[in-house]
Amino acid sequence: MVELPAWLLGVGLVMLALPGASAVSVDGRALKKDASVLILGGGVAGVIAARTLHEQGITNFTIVEAKGELGGRLTSTTFGAKGKEVTLELGANWVQGTQTDNGPANPIWTLVQKHGLKTHENDWTGSIVTYNATGPDDYLDLFDESADAYTNLTITAGTRVDKRLVDATARTGYSLLGAKSRTPQAMASEYYQFDWEYAQTPEESSWIASSWGNNFTYNTDVGGFGDDNQMALDPRGFKHIIQAEAAEFLKPAQLRTNSTIKTIKNSDSGVSVVLESGEVLHADYALCTFSLGVLQHDDVVFEPALPDWKEEAIQSMTMATYTKVFLQFEEKFWFDTEMALYADPERGRYPVWQSLDHVNFLPGSGIVFVTTTGDYSLRIESLPDEQVQEEVLGVLAAMFPNTTIPAPVAFHFPRWNADPLFRGSYSNWPSSFFSEHHENLRANVGERLWFAGEATSQKYFGFLHGAYFEGADVATDMAKCIKAGGCVGMKHVQEVTNARPYKI
Ligand SMILES: Cc1cc2nc3c(=O)[nH]c(=O)nc-3n(C[C@H](O)[C@H](O)[C@H](O)COP(=O)(O)OP(=O)(O)OC[C@H]3O[C@@H](n4cnc5c(N)ncnc54)[C@H](O)[C@@H]3O)c2cc1C
Ligand SMILES: *[C@@H]1O[C@H](CO)[C@@H](O)[C@H](O)[C@H]1NC(C)=O
Ligand SMILES: *[C@@H]1O[C@H](CO)[C@@H](O)[C@H](O)[C@H]1NC(C)=O
Ligand SMILES: *[C@@H]1O[C@H](CO)[C@@H](O)[C@H](O)[C@H]1NC(C)=O
Ligand SMILES: *[C@@H]1O[C@H](CO)[C@@H](O)[C@H](O)[C@H]1NC(C)=O
Ligand SMILES: *[C@@H]1O[C@H](CO)[C@@H](O)[C@H](O)[C@H]1NC(C)=O
Ligand SMILES: *[C@@H]1O[C@H](CO)[C@@H](O)[C@H](O)[C@H]1NC(C)=O
Repeated sequence: MVELPAWLLGVGLVMLALPGASAVSVDGRALKKDASVLILGGGVAGVIAARTLHEQGITNFTIVEAKGELGGRLTSTTFGAKGKEVTLELGANWVQGTQTDNGPANPIWTLVQKHGLKTHENDWTGSIVTYNATGPDDYLDLFDESADAYTNLTITAGTRVDKRLVDATARTGYSLLGAKSRTPQAMASEYYQFDWEYAQTPEESSWIASSWGNNFTYNTDVGGFGDDNQMALDPRGFKHIIQAEAAEFLKPAQLRTNSTIKTIKNSDSGVSVVLESGEVLHADYALCTFSLGVLQHDDVVFEPALPDWKEEAIQSMTMATYTKVFLQFEEKFWFDTEMALYADPERGRYPVWQSLDHVNFLPGSGIVFVTTTGDYSLRIESLPDEQVQEEVLGVLAAMFPNTTIPAPVAFHFPRWNADPLFRGSYSNWPSSFFSEHHENLRANVGERLWFAGEATSQKYFGFLHGAYFEGADVATDMAKCIKAGGCVGMKHVQEVTNARPYKI
């Protein structure tokens, strides 16, 4: 195990010293130990939080979810021309890092096995071919070099932690290593290592936090699960694991779907949420699991407004966007590998391709998809479908100069950033986001309002397993608080200060 800085080890709960049964809250009221809890949002974090409360014997809770089903960003759709329909994952589609020997298991992998979800390994590095803007172009040497540069980036980030050096962007890290990607081929290779994972550029990302993020999931030396990626291929959708898990403990009265929350009213004595319908739900506690993007976008109004320390934390982390653009053709005409990399002169322009019409995935489906991220995703979200389709077909024509590219029989891409229930795909940690900000992003506001989700995970932000661990950990803390008859909760810092103030 590496030595972790104290702040990463988590902050203990500050409990009130209360005598036995006559528990009182901070303001002196008597509290029931079977307090009621509203879990706001039914994604992975919300469902696992509910399961945790249930396990702790706290059963008076309700999950309040805007959509018609559980799963959140685990979401699938039926895609394809008549007679050629398949289930596709619009959101998360891999278990990233599963388990190595008897090492720690990714809890999402555990759920996959428990509920018999169909998956297959996806070989990101060994089954790939490369293209440029005039056709096939073998630059696998550059591709391998960029993988080494990425490994070196995570190592040098570790030495910065050891020496207590300040964070910087991953771009600074790459440049100091001498890894300067200047050709389309080198840029595409770097993109595959970096942007395709973080959904943002090295310029937009923390050097240290991105390296941690990689290590804690993939690197078994530091407690990671391992480096394989399992692709969900189940006709019931990847969401089946969370819906089946919920079915084991959740009672109908504990779930309200189709209930969009507009306002969250927080006070010392409880929380009320106002639904779009005007209906008001009251509870002793609430756990908000909405995405960072939803919190940033003011889709939900907090009354009173969240305190400055919370708002600064929310606005300082980044909600990134990751977009899969799906095409279905009468028949496959493309590469036989699982993956392909396309090097456009413009970095990030339709770079990463994956064939689903592959023996390991959905053979015979006629489906290939391309992924965009970051600003490029925002750009395509703003365009009509027809224009994006035309651009993507243009890239295929460049990759396959001797093939007449047929018209696709189906085309679809989700607009994650425009979706008011998500406002992006997952969080990314910028270099201006300090560990105290993270503590504040996670901390409860007052005694009653708590937060959990993918973005509040210090080690696994962005991942399904981050949402899982946060749902479990924060609900455990809430249960302790409820059973103690009240608590102050997690620590926050009032102001994130500069170690050495600026001088003029
Ligand atoms: C395109 C894409 C690809 C991804 N790929 C992977 C991957 O391969 N592997 C991986 O590990 N992770 C991946 N992720 C990330 C992963 O999906 C998330 O980290 C995880 O699902 C987040 O779970 P959560 O419970 O924190 O949030 P959410 O799933 O967002 O849950 C929050 C819930 O709140 C609901 N909600 C929002 N606003 C309101 C409102 N006003 N009223 C009521 N309800 C509301 C939402 O509908 C949602 O159900 C991907 C995400 C996306 C979008
Ligand atoms: C659950 O909590 C609600 C809100 O506080 C309360 O009205 C209800 O009676 C409680 N139900 C039970 C079974 O305790
Ligand atoms: C929820 O909405 C979906 C479609 O948005 C609908 O099919 C479903 O019947 C609704 N469920 C309830 C319980 O109203
Ligand atoms: C694209 O690859 C081909 C084949 O390797 C090569 O001849 C050509 O110069 C490359 N084009 C660019 C712009 O790099
Ligand atoms: C990575 O680091 C090793 C060891 O210092 C070095 O030999 C190698 O050239 C570096 N590779 C890249 C691509 O930076
Ligand atoms: C990531 O793992 C590498 C290899 O084990 C290690 O050298 C490095 O210090 C780690 N990076 C961080 C940021 O902890
Ligand atoms: C395309 O066809 C030309 C002419 O037959 C040939 O020289 C070239 O190698 C082909 N390119 C590819 C990518 O197959």
